[in-house]
Order: sequence, then structure tokens, then C-alpha cells
Amino acid sequence: MKLLLIHGPNLNLLGVREPDKYGKENYDDINKALYAYCFKINVELEIFQNNCEGAIVTKIQEALNNCDGIIINPAAYTHTSVAIRDAIAAVNIPTIEVHLSNVYAREEFRHKSLIAPVCLGQIAGFKSHGYKMAIDAMLEHLKQNNEA
Ligand code: DQA
Repeated sequence: MKLLLIHGPNLNLLGVREPDKYGKENYDDINKALYAYCFKINVELEIFQNNCEGAIVTKIQEALNNCDGIIINPAAYTHTSVAIRDAIAAVNIPTIEVHLSNVYAREEFRHKSLIAPVCLGQIAGFKSHGYKMAIDAMLEHLKQNNEA
């Protein structure tokens, strides 16, 4: 069982970046905790971060035949990227969208996700805990659908 976690632009600055919105935990600590959690439950986890839309599209394409589920925080691309949405639809790998902040309680431009319609679902507002929630939800989904 292998999961791919993709962090979009500016998420490498977590801990420094607007901690009131995104939490005080830094990017490396969040990832370390997720690797440890997945190790404990015997799931292989790959984590990828990039600030560029095309690199994220390429990574999603490379996940084809190589991973069972994708968890993605597309960050600002959530609200703009047809290319990331199309890549997720193209590979047809179960995908969950995560946001650290509750995007619906923020500016109106953050209320619309181009990515959510091609995902199993969306988790928003639970800071970094949302990633663990997404891993658990993905495993439950894969178990129920015998996809892994
Ligand atoms: C975010 C929400 C987005 O609107 C924003 O552009 C981000 C982070 C979140 O995790 O809350 O970069 O995806």
C-alpha cells in the first residue's frame, strides 16, 4: 500500500507562514510525524512539495501504476488550476484534498475549489491533523473498495 502526499506552493514555509491560519508546526515536523504514523500502520508514504503547477501535474502523472491513493493540498492552485484537476481526473487514482485552514471561513476566492469535484472528498480547517485524517479516510476507502 503506497500513498503519495503532495504539498503545493508556499507550504514548505509552514511554521513561518501566517501561523494563525496554518498553525505553528513547521513543514519538516509535519512530514516527520506523517512518515512515523505511516510506518507504524505499515503504509508506504511518499511526500512531494513543489511551488510550480507543472511539476505537480508531472508528479500526479508519475503516480499512475505506482501508488494507491493521493492526498493533496494544492494550496493556491486549488482555486485556479484546471491542469491539476485534469491530471487527477486522468490518472483516476483515489484522491483526497486537504486544507490546513477552513477555506470557507476566509476570503470568497478561497471558497471555490477546482480540484474537489475530482476528489473523493475534502478535509479543511483542522491544521496539520487534516493530513492524518486524510490518510485514515483513504485507507478506509481503499479497504472498502478492495483497491489495495
Ligand atoms: C491552503 C488554503 C489556500 O487557499 C491557500 O492558498 C494555501 C493554503 C490551506 O491549506 O489552508 O496556500 O490550501
